[in-house]
Amino acid sequence: MTSNDLPNGDARPYEPAKGPALRRITAGAIKRRKGGTPVPMVTAYDTPFAQFAEEAGIDWILVGDSLGNVVLGYDETTPVTMEQMLHHTAAVTRATSRAHIVADMPFGSYQVSDEEAVRNAIRLIKEGGAQSVKLEGGVYEAQRVRAIARVGIPVVGHIGVTPQTAGLGPGYRKRTHRDRLLEDALAVQEAGAYAIVLEVVDAEIARELTEQLAILTIGIGSGPHCDAQVLVIHDLLGMYPHSPPFATRFAEIGRAATEALREYANAVKRAAFPQA
Ligand code: KIV
Repeated sequence: MTSNDLPNGDARPYEPAKGPALRRITAGAIKRRKGGTPVPMVTAYDTPFAQFAEEAGIDWILVGDSLGNVVLGYDETTPVTMEQMLHHTAAVTRATSRAHIVADMPFGSYQVSDEEAVRNAIRLIKEGGAQSVKLEGGVYEAQRVRAIARVGIPVVGHIGVTPQTAGLGPGYRKRTHRDRLLEDALAVQEAGAYAIVLEVVDAEIARELTEQLAILTIGIGSGPHCDAQVLVIHDLLGMYPHSPPFATRFAEIGRAATEALREYANAVKRAAFPQA
């Protein structure tokens, strides 16, 4: 494939590493971590941050469609396109060699039909280089999970707050409807997902789901009892003034970057940079 084969024409597709094969962590290996030491997962959208994550020992990376909020300047994830997801997934894949890369299926890429969902999932694997895909929805999207899993692509589900449609009605409040959450989680598991994101789910319900499900639960804003935890990298690194209340800021990179840039600008204005 050449770069001209890509829809936007400018993204270099994922190229498998040459030389001795570097084996990436498989979905099966991740699934076996169920019930063990909690598994850290983080989002990444580009080469430097994917490298930082892998070097930090994080070997499960999500190219989330939160790309829309934290990188592309949208208020929601809803406008994110397949082409944008492919572009950023390929960047993350090129930057890593061992981590298992999960690519989010953006809004509109899987809802219309099984056929379209499978075609788009295949693109994220072939052109983006991801090893798994993630899609939002419980009972009502279980059929899509099944269709994608059936062609051999590992699938991660996502229930609780589902940001692609939260702004269209259901909102972002904590999800506390135990029976509905359990029904959704079981439907996604039964359809063949190997893991499921629980976003802003009541912590006790998240604990119960983690105990009842055979697949890994990945918590975000859902308390400490999940098998894995995920955070948006910009939130945990403190890249914006405000982070969601559940996201501990492990650094203040935004402030450090602004200070460094102010120092640089002042140095240029004082003719102190560059030195002769
Ligand atoms: O898009 C994303 O980053 C996500 C996580 C918040 C789970 O879906």
